Amino acid sequence: MISFDEKSGIFYLENAEVTYAFSLADGILYHLYFGRKVPHDDLRYLNRSAYCAPGEGMGENSRDRELPLYGRGDGREPMIGVTSENGNLLCEPLYKGHRVIPQPAIPGMPSTFGGETLEVTLEDEKKGLRVVLSYTLFSDTSAVTRTCRLENIGSAPLTLTRVYSFAFDLPAVPLDALSLEGAWANERTPERVALHHGVWSIDSKQASSSAILNPFAAFMTKDCTEDAGEVWGVNLVYSSSFRILANVGPHGKARIEGGINDFGFSWHLAPGEVFHAPEAVLAYSDHGLGHLSRVFHDTYREHLIPTRFVKKPRPVVINNWEATYFNFNREKLFAIIDAAAGTGIDTFVLDDGWFGDRNDDHRALGDWFVNEEKLEGGLDAIIEHCHEKGLKFGLWFEPEMVNPQSKLYEAHPDWAIHAPDYTPITMRNQYALDLTRKEVRDYIVSVVSAILDSHEIDYVKWDYNRCVTEMYSAHLAPDREGEFAHRYALGLYDLCERLVVTHPNILFEGCASGGARFDPAILAYFPQIWTSDDTDAVMRTRIQWGTSLCYPLSSMSCHASVCPNHQTGRTTPWDTRATIAHLGATGYELDVSRLSEEDLAAIPAQVDAYHEMEDLVLEGDLYRLEEPYSGRQFAVELVSKDKSHAHVTFMQLFRVFNCPPRPLKLKGLDPDALYRVEEKGLTLHGRTLMSAGLLIPVDRMKDCTCLTYRLTKV
Ligand code: GLA
Repeated sequence: MISFDEKSGIFYLENAEVTYAFSLADGILYHLYFGRKVPHDDLRYLNRSAYCAPGEGMGENSRDRELPLYGRGDGREPMIGVTSENGNLLCEPLYKGHRVIPQPAIPGMPSTFGGETLEVTLEDEKKGLRVVLSYTLFSDTSAVTRTCRLENIGSAPLTLTRVYSFAFDLPAVPLDALSLEGAWANERTPERVALHHGVWSIDSKQASSSAILNPFAAFMTKDCTEDAGEVWGVNLVYSSSFRILANVGPHGKARIEGGINDFGFSWHLAPGEVFHAPEAVLAYSDHGLGHLSRVFHDTYREHLIPTRFVKKPRPVVINNWEATYFNFNREKLFAIIDAAAGTGIDTFVLDDGWFGDRNDDHRALGDWFVNEEKLEGGLDAIIEHCHEKGLKFGLWFEPEMVNPQSKLYEAHPDWAIHAPDYTPITMRNQYALDLTRKEVRDYIVSVVSAILDSHEIDYVKWDYNRCVTEMYSAHLAPDREGEFAHRYALGLYDLCERLVVTHPNILFEGCASGGARFDPAILAYFPQIWTSDDTDAVMRTRIQWGTSLCYPLSSMSCHASVCPNHQTGRTTPWDTRATIAHLGATGYELDVSRLSEEDLAAIPAQVDAYHEMEDLVLEGDLYRLEEPYSGRQFAVELVSKDKSHAHVTFMQLFRVFNCPPRPLKLKGLDPDALYRVEEKGLTLHGRTLMSAGLLIPVDRMKDCTCLTYRLTKV
């Protein structure tokens, strides 16, 4: 519900759990409140007590604005930076009007959909600037999304030096900030630190959201835990260089802001032009991080991830990357397909190495032509074989890249991103292509479409194995080079529109050296993302736990692989690897033709077990029970929305000898209902399972073994 109370000048945005309110006075919008839902008119008192007349008390300049500006007296971080032709950075857009409309799309950028949007228009005629602040609410989830657009309504050009998507202020209580830090093959580890006076921030300068810091942050009260306490979460629907910050000011209040990274950013806005900021998803929970995560999960499943895939069973894939790397031929692939056939695995994915002369990672990226010498009969022979064996077929691409050793680079060296006078650096022996150029995008669309349109392909893995390091395009004017990182994102979204949206029956999986571009913007096109190149089950408990803070399990692609594990050298039981891979869009990634008879024979039961819990992976509520970072155990629970059934996964990471069985307290069940716990042959009340817990025989569990429990309401 979005409403405006003319008398008090207060805008109320309210859903089932949350109130977001701000007020209008003398043309300026003041932030009032974002938190637990409160009775509508009560906030009028906040409005009155927050207001001080000029010269009184803290003064009107310290009030929290919905659009914090530079040079208006509060000294904290502004949300926008706009320079006039004469170099003046000041602006003061004042309220002009507002409207409530069905949620519009953001031109050229992915966003959530299906909500109701409040647009508030502010104008500064002297500056020639219009700012439209947008707020979106949904009927079925308590997230609030925000974005803004800046329009040049004057006759002289403006230069944008900062465009954040949102700003809001939190009360003056000590808060912690939580972010997801990481690196290649070790992505998204939660890190919690205390906010301090000044600026805490996370960012990317890589034209991708990056493995180093995810565009997600949570700000929480000191007592906030998994299940209790207050927490505000923000997540940017953006795949390029971003920044999220908390600025604790002189009175102890934290201002939270985020959007496009302003490092190196500038945007030339000519008269009549409009600039759209990416969308930010904001969520609030007064039941700790667990509930916050469930709000994000519901929002992404209902209002972001393509509806045609989001709740449909995903393919159970066999991917040949860890099985063969580049070293394969038709016979090796046939052997993998033959072994997988009949096990329940339903899709074979041919990874890197099928095109050009790509026999290692030094060459051929960009040459998207089938290597028929390596693959006798081309892709058709593989696809036909898959179909004969009852499998679908998927294919790997890395469309945004080029190797210096490639036909594409020979023909168009200028298409690789580079800056004048400096040798561009390679990463994994490759350059990124300049997606800001239309002819580059046209080429990618034509070669990738040529493959997609001439073969029966059901699935594409879209990889991205380096970040952008030289923010420069030979085709942009010198005073527009600051637009590069954002234009790269717009180029990527254009590619996605033209390749993904035009092939609606192909399921595209995102990938970026594993999880280096795991963000909501990618999820708007790709229903799932390869979570990490680390397939070790122990590491995956951590990576998948961290990722689940804001991304639903169904968005995480997870494969069982060979042991000793290729990344960590660790050996874990076969069933454990499958069980941990079941906590996402599951699959296998090893040479199944070389599995022992016993391990191969185990796959059908593993796949059946997955299908039994698949509805919970796709649509259930996630409850995190035992965090894996302490290294002892890991446990999560999935509960159906109607609480009729649930699934518990427990992993003993490290056995301590002579430990008695320990109770695992479940969550999210109907306290008064009776649940049958299949594996234990017990029937207990939800209340008992949540209070006394389910007794786990850790005394009998070896290192890295798992137990799963299915609960059904009787
Ligand atoms: C990246 C991906 C892997 C695999 C290789 C292929 O590292 O994350 O899964 O596709 O590229 O080169």
